[in-house]
Amino acid sequence: MSISVTPAALPAPPHVPADDDLSVWPASTLALADGDLAVGGVPLAEVADRFGTPVYLLDEEEVRSRCRTYRAAFPDADVVYAAKAYLCRAVARWVREEGFGLDVVSAGELELAVTTGFPPDRILLHGNAKSPEDLRTALRLGVGRIVIDSAGEIARLAALVPPGDRQRVLLRVVPGVAAGGHPSIRTGTEDQKFGLSITDGSAQHAVDRVLGQPGLELAGLHCHIGSQITTVKPYVAALRRLIGLMARIRDQYGVVLPELDLGGGHAVAYRPGESALDITALATRIRAELAEGCARAGLPVPRLTLEPGRAVIGPAGVAVYRVLTVKRAAGRTLVAVDGGMSDNPRPALYGVRYAPRLVGRTHAAARANVDVVGRYCEAGDILAADVPLPEDVRPGDLLALPVAGAYHLSMASTYNMVGRPPVVAVSHAHPRLLIRRESFEDMSARDVSE
Ligand code: LLP
Repeated sequence: MSISVTPAALPAPPHVPADDDLSVWPASTLALADGDLAVGGVPLAEVADRFGTPVYLLDEEEVRSRCRTYRAAFPDADVVYAAKAYLCRAVARWVREEGFGLDVVSAGELELAVTTGFPPDRILLHGNAKSPEDLRTALRLGVGRIVIDSAGEIARLAALVPPGDRQRVLLRVVPGVAAGGHPSIRTGTEDQKFGLSITDGSAQHAVDRVLGQPGLELAGLHCHIGSQITTVKPYVAALRRLIGLMARIRDQYGVVLPELDLGGGHAVAYRPGESALDITALATRIRAELAEGCARAGLPVPRLTLEPGRAVIGPAGVAVYRVLTVKRAAGRTLVAVDGGMSDNPRPALYGVRYAPRLVGRTHAAARANVDVVGRYCEAGDILAADVPLPEDVRPGDLLALPVAGAYHLSMASTYNMVGRPPVVAVSHAHPRLLIRRESFEDMSARDVSE
């Protein structure tokens, strides 16, 4: 059965009830007269019928337009997409076509990208504990840059570079700036596992050692201060620390580093009213600060790199679940759906709040606050606590959860031996299966015991 729907065939003028706010949904989202939503011109209920639930949608145009916002805001910078947010072949192709590079953290992400045609010189390998296989794969495939994260990695990497070759590297430093939406995703301070401290001299010591390795070419400094950062200020603070270090490196070694990578971490709104980082404001401040700071230090302006993940793919994703049971207990209404913490561990890990919405039918019922819970065998498997849904929500209903594109499926598991959901791209009113649902056969094929 084909469910392609042309825009002309969609029900005429959508009626959006006053209390419906689609601000965190993809820009293409339309409220349809039958109570459904269409994303990329494709009604969500039809996607659920055709591909089953839970199902994840990615709005291709939303991803592309977010890439274009970055390219327009930072025309002179390299923007690389942080693959850890979500990677599949189609996403690698979309961001490549939009002129992005790619930030990978494993041989797996790297192989997938390169075998999809991603130019290796536009790829950057990260990782606080890169395995020998990660490093060997990076050298074999010829990645543009490897980001050194610890002193021990310098000699390890240098030993793998074939004689006569030179690998370009960046050095990840810790600028001592606290920023980020949750302690688990703050990486700019001394008390965490990433990078080399500027404060205690480890960064400068590592510079010394990299410069002493003929097989390594130190191209610049890198920092990533955290994730889900809503304001420009911490980036400016980090930038100043990095320019200071670049000036000291110039003074001590006579080396002018041509590149500076400020990482990612740009916040998106998960619920209406939450703040997102303004990319254009970020660009204006960073460019000004870079020009002034470098002028003060007597340095040429280095080429800037940014590494957004969430802000490119997060708001382009929608998860659609089906309600399996509705239970009233201890004064609460628990609406249980057919997915949960295995496809979206974020509420359990970081206490993140989402705004799911009933789709696929009209309703006249008043709203009541309920807890949307998952199907997994843990009391903590709560997808969205205390959210308003129509009072008559019942088994068989569809719930759609926006801003589901980043760090859901890339962190998904097969907990309770439930296969991971499929991913469907929507674009110009066409749904296209990118990743099929994981089957029992997929899971059991790895069990090679008798
Ligand atoms: N660059 C580096 C070196 C990173 O470690 C990360 C994310 C990024 C760029 C991209 O950050 P983004 O722009 O997506 O915020 N699982 C957590 C987020 C972990 C972020 C890890 N590193 C979450 O679901 O919020």
